[in-house]
Amino acid sequence: KREESQIEALATLPPELEEEIGKLDKDFWVSKEKLKEISERFGEELAEGLEENGKNIPMNITWVLGFPTGRENGSFLTLDLGGTNLRVCWITLKDSKRGDLDVKQHQYKLPSELKTGEAEALWNYIAEFLEKFITDLDLKGTKDDPLPLGFTFSYPATQDYIDHGILQTWTKGFDIKGVEGEDAAQQLRDAMAKKNLPIRLVALINDTTGAMIASAYHDPSTIIGAIFGTGCNAAYMEDCGSIPKVAKTAGITPDTPMAINCEYGAFDNAHRVLPLTKYDTAIDAESPRPGEQAFEKMSAGLYLGEIFRQVLVDVHSRGLIFKHQDVSKLKQPYILDTGFLSAIEDDESEKLSKTGDAFKETLNIAPTEPELEFIRRLAELIAVRGARLCVCGVAAICRKKRLSSGHVAADGSVANKHPKFKKRWAGAMAEILEWPEDREEDPIVLTSAEDGSGVGAAVIVAMTLERAKRGKM
Ligand code: GLC
Repeated sequence: KREESQIEALATLPPELEEEIGKLDKDFWVSKEKLKEISERFGEELAEGLEENGKNIPMNITWVLGFPTGRENGSFLTLDLGGTNLRVCWITLKDSKRGDLDVKQHQYKLPSELKTGEAEALWNYIAEFLEKFITDLDLKGTKDDPLPLGFTFSYPATQDYIDHGILQTWTKGFDIKGVEGEDAAQQLRDAMAKKNLPIRLVALINDTTGAMIASAYHDPSTIIGAIFGTGCNAAYMEDCGSIPKVAKTAGITPDTPMAINCEYGAFDNAHRVLPLTKYDTAIDAESPRPGEQAFEKMSAGLYLGEIFRQVLVDVHSRGLIFKHQDVSKLKQPYILDTGFLSAIEDDESEKLSKTGDAFKETLNIAPTEPELEFIRRLAELIAVRGARLCVCGVAAICRKKRLSSGHVAADGSVANKHPKFKKRWAGAMAEILEWPEDREEDPIVLTSAEDGSGVGAAVIVAMTLERAKRGKM
């Protein structure tokens, strides 16, 4: 059994750096046994979350009651507040064939000061953004016939019905005052009302549920929707009879399917199984919500670059790298994003010159050749750990639901932009689920989700309006 990873050495390092990377390798490598242990505990926490007095993982019920037929149709507004961007779309689902649609959209990077400001500033900004969009596209709604809106709010929310969502806690570094414990849907509605916008918020959804439904709209093999992006989370379909906290709700039969937004970024907040390094501990302590999102902080895009930076700062402080260089930029928290790590792993230039240029440009540091090799191996260690950990939650859902084949529809910057993520993910999945070596193909496959926060939100609005027409909850 290999206890350390086999990160390829492309060049030899001076002994002190070789020793250092060896130690880091031990700290960051998650063995097959450990993966299984984590995934097992994951299964227990998923089950606990469905109980009436759920424990750690929220396992939020979403009121998305089943998969789409593929024949949903109509035109819908969608709004996505995800973590990095703000996006509004006008989506037309066409009846003619499964998955036929048309999308018009505007997207902006969310100004960072809004992420730590006051609720009112956030909602007013969003309402203005919506107003501008419907004016630009000349979309006409009236008081009696308002434009239907699906709002993708990718944070943990308690929903008593589908157009309602009490924010449990901010995640992904957000820290906006006045929303936690409040209904985010109502706050947006109030801001839209102040501007007399002819818009009706029909559904508040999570990005994971959106990814699952958008994919299921054209791919009936979809079993799970997952996000490997700024945050890390998944949704799947559960029978209400297996959800103690909803089983007694009027009108709900045990065989009613209900999408569950796991919110499993919170997995192992009690730190029982996750192999934390001192860098993970530091990131948690310095975050706006220490003690929360333990799993997410080790695996999601928001944090990978920061883990990498923390290691470099530490190794530099012990005099092993970047001697006589100005490290003031390297000392800035969150200066390196996941794209920076992906680019290092993507670098096939001679002597890693592209990585050298990136260090110069972003950090004003000129690494030596051995330092570049150290950097390359470190980037790989961190990304490999992230990808392997990301599998544990999905594998636990598959085991819980006895799903032995199907598509895990994934979205997010890590899933889609990281060059080696999919391969690493599939490898770890095979280890946990013990797939035979000689299999012809993988029974569970990571696919690219089709625009969950756009198309997924639109399909969910269509499903909700259709259900309302039929007089069902
Ligand atoms: C965070 C959010 C969750 C979201 C995920 C991916 O974990 O709490 O709601 O699904 O990030 O965006």
